[in-house]
Amino acid sequence: MVIEKIHQQGPALSRIIAGAWRWHTVSADVVERLIHTSLDQGISSFDHADIYGDHGNEEIFGNIIRRTPSLRQRMQLITKCGIKFPSTKRPATRVKHYDTSRDHILWSAENSLRMLGTDHLDILLIHRPDPLLNPTEVAEAFAALKEQGKVLYFGVSNFTPSQFRVLQKYCSFPLVTNQIEISLSRIDPLFNGDLDTLMEFGARPMAWSPLGGGKPLPVEDRLLFNQAAKYNATYSQLSLAWLMKHPSFMFPIIGTTKPERIIESAKAITLDIDKQDWFEILKWVMGKEMP
Ligand SMILES: NC(=O)c1ccc[n+]([C@@H]2O[C@H](COP(=O)([O-])OP(=O)(O)OC[C@H]3O[C@@H](n4cnc5c(N)ncnc54)[C@H](OP(=O)(O)O)[C@@H]3O)[C@@H](O)[C@H]2O)c1
Repeated sequence: MVIEKIHQQGPALSRIIAGAWRWHTVSADVVERLIHTSLDQGISSFDHADIYGDHGNEEIFGNIIRRTPSLRQRMQLITKCGIKFPSTKRPATRVKHYDTSRDHILWSAENSLRMLGTDHLDILLIHRPDPLLNPTEVAEAFAALKEQGKVLYFGVSNFTPSQFRVLQKYCSFPLVTNQIEISLSRIDPLFNGDLDTLMEFGARPMAWSPLGGGKPLPVEDRLLFNQAAKYNATYSQLSLAWLMKHPSFMFPIIGTTKPERIIESAKAITLDIDKQDWFEILKWVMGKEMP
């Protein structure tokens, strides 16, 4: 697996990232296998959020690190903050809302460190654009966490280009990524400026739900089947390779809960799709020719 910088002044991550969102649906033993299989495949970067698994997934992962602390040196940890929803674990929250206040970011980062069993996060992301986001406060919180060595790099998720630009203006160091939804089931970022803006800022995207969350494509997939056969690849390998061909240099975050599918996905890194095949897939997804 290739290790690449997500930003010139940012951390090196594995080109394919393992996402822990669905990992509460399997046992802790399987999570341990998912971690080891990922590392064995060179997938050394793991994506979390404070809220995954009703605020439980970071701790499940952290328990494995606490048992084998040497694992931490072999991985990069990404997590997110800023979403609050009603939960027995968060009795003070009445209504789902976003909180990107300075105090909440600082508290959430500290909490993630405790849960994940680590003394630093490689990247902290603001999970979603908060309509009440005050960029001065966010920049202050980021600077304090960086100064204390608790978080090395920062970024955002699901931000529009203008939201990215505004926050970047207030931060004295670069936002290293915008984690966005993109897949063959969701191609808007190719055309809505999301990817262009990241290229403008020298930041590389992380692609969440790169297989559309496992949902079948809204197009006949005969073409994909034929193309996969042509490349001696599986449908998921073809989908990941299609994303990784884009010059914005996406880092797909795979969400599988099956170790064998991690091994399958890791192989996508060696698959280079021919330009005309890439456009043929795009044509099928769009349901029409390029203009
Ligand atoms: N920033 C955000 O707002 C945001 C939102 C959502 C997700 N994320 C991140 O993105 C990560 C990935 O999201 P996702 O889970 O929706 O990604 P995904 O890889 O598109 O979907 C994974 C789902 O597809 C299924 N699947 C079906 N066939 C598969 C195959 N051949 N290979 C692999 N998986 C297959 C998996 O089932 P099996 O488990 O049975 O393999 C799993 O349920 C999350 O873990 C999280 O870290 C971020």
